[in-house]
Amino acid sequence: MAHYFVDTPQENIVELKNITQTYDDGKVVVLKDFNLLIEDKPNQGQFVALLGASGCGKSTILRYISGLQSPTSGDVLLYGKPRTDKDRVGMVFQKYSSLPWMTVLENVALGLNYQGVPKKEREEKARDMIKKVGLTGHEHKFAQYPALSGGQLQRVAIARSLLANPRILLMDEPYGALDINTRLAMQDMLLQIWYEVHPTIIFVTHDISEAVYLGDDIYIMRSNPGNIVEHIYVDLPFRRDRSIKRTPRFEELTNYIEDKMIQVDAMVRAEKQ
Ligand SMILES: Nc1ncnc2c1ncn2[C@@H]1O[C@H](COP(=O)(O)OP(=O)(O)OP(=O)(O)O)[C@@H](O)[C@H]1O
Ligand SMILES: [Mg+2]
Repeated sequence: MAHYFVDTPQENIVELKNITQTYDDGKVVVLKDFNLLIEDKPNQGQFVALLGASGCGKSTILRYISGLQSPTSGDVLLYGKPRTDKDRVGMVFQKYSSLPWMTVLENVALGLNYQGVPKKEREEKARDMIKKVGLTGHEHKFAQYPALSGGQLQRVAIARSLLANPRILLMDEPYGALDINTRLAMQDMLLQIWYEVHPTIIFVTHDISEAVYLGDDIYIMRSNPGNIVEHIYVDLPFRRDRSIKRTPRFEELTNYIEDKMIQVDAMVRAEKQ
């Protein structure tokens, strides 16, 4: 199939510098002195998982990178330069974000509409991507429940994001509402897409096992104010399948992260008193 993703040498693909986010004239401090650097690995991309308590600022960070929000102060750099509206960033939201009045094919092809790609080519590429996410045969259904299941709708959103904005893909708890089997299948589908086309993925989840299985780098955040308290390099093989979840190293990593998150939560609670 056609290759939509351009390889470039290693670079600082996403950099958040000295970010502060406040509301209510500074009375509510959500993020303070927040820094995050994500490097793109040549021909491999990068898979970052973000973990942290509800309200710590994970979605806020994704919104900066996608351009939906600007911080109160600090810099958002993509590819080493201040973010511009031309930067292509895909976003899969916490709740599925397909357009129910359009068919699956139209939904997936949508991202290319804005890039001036002719209709025939748009549909051809959309069909390729629909095949990749396992939805061939559903092209002409409207993207709505129950004609498509929750997992299928989420795959429509993922297919559209991959087709539209390939170099950086932000995924905000994309599998939160899926049943366990769909979720496991979707994890593997995402890994396959990642191996093949290696975008840089920033994936927010509350599931530690999912973060370790998918992530190369995991960041644990604290809240009040939000910041990164731990960066864990996942030293599991680059190509993974589910059998890795039964290994001692996988268990060690998940246990370590669970303990760390409990510690961080206790620290934040103690500070409040
Ligand atoms: N307009 C606003 N005014 C005040 N506070 C806000 C505003 N927008 C966001 N916040 C606060 O910013 C904090 C971070 O929100 P964010 O959505 O980034 O959290 P999150 O880490 O994604 O949480 P979750 O895991 O529940 O999705 C929250 O405490 C939220 O209440
Ligand atoms: Mg969120």
